[in-house]
Amino acid sequence: MMVVSLAGSPSQRSRSGVLLDAAGDWLQRHGVEVVRYAVRDFEPADLIHARFDSPAVQRFAEHVEQADGLLVATPVYKASFAGVLKTLLDLLPERALANKAVLPLASGGSAAHMLTLDYALKPVLAALKAQEILQGVYAVDQQIAYAEGNQPARLEDELRERLEAAASQLFAALARCPRPLDPQLLNDRLANARWSI
Ligand SMILES: Cc1cc2nc3c(=O)[nH]c(=O)nc-3n(C[C@H](O)[C@H](O)[C@H](O)COP(=O)(O)O)c2cc1C
Repeated sequence: MMVVSLAGSPSQRSRSGVLLDAAGDWLQRHGVEVVRYAVRDFEPADLIHARFDSPAVQRFAEHVEQADGLLVATPVYKASFAGVLKTLLDLLPERALANKAVLPLASGGSAAHMLTLDYALKPVLAALKAQEILQGVYAVDQQIAYAEGNQPARLEDELRERLEAAASQLFAALARCPRPLDPQLLNDRLANARWSI
């Protein structure tokens, strides 16, 4: 099984990125291949000018197409998810998340915006036809301490438990969202099958 992980923060030191890494690491420890992307990896001009034909954007879209699921993390900006993340999601094909399970994650300065995932990000994931959108995890900044020097980033115990439960729900959902058979592969198999009655 393969999952694309997408970090939606423009910041290099990113708290939502810490959430994403913790969930991605959990999945890896359970045998899932995690292909990691960050909006910061893309050329700003590709995003601002909506360059669907940019090789980096196309590579990302191909990885998403091949994936069984998506892990996506965002900071809360102005009561919504980060605009730069939207510029990248806008470049995905219309049904990019069909047959995929998605786990959304967000960090914000205040608990007042804990519904951001529900009213802002999830409708966009639904518009991309995600098969299963999990409840998601919202954390406030005080619950996440950045990595310093050789020290790993630290999450409050309660948050780590919520994240691990959410990652295990994604793991279970991946099995419920089987990848459709490639029609060409199916044709080849039928054409080359040896039939006996
Ligand atoms: C431009 C900007 C706007 C923000 N707007 C909000 C907001 O509306 N509500 C909120 O709870 N936090 C807000 N925050 C705080 C961030 O969501 C929070 O610090 C988050 O953890 C940052 O995630 P990151 O480190 O992954 O970028 C804002 C931060 C910035 C820089």
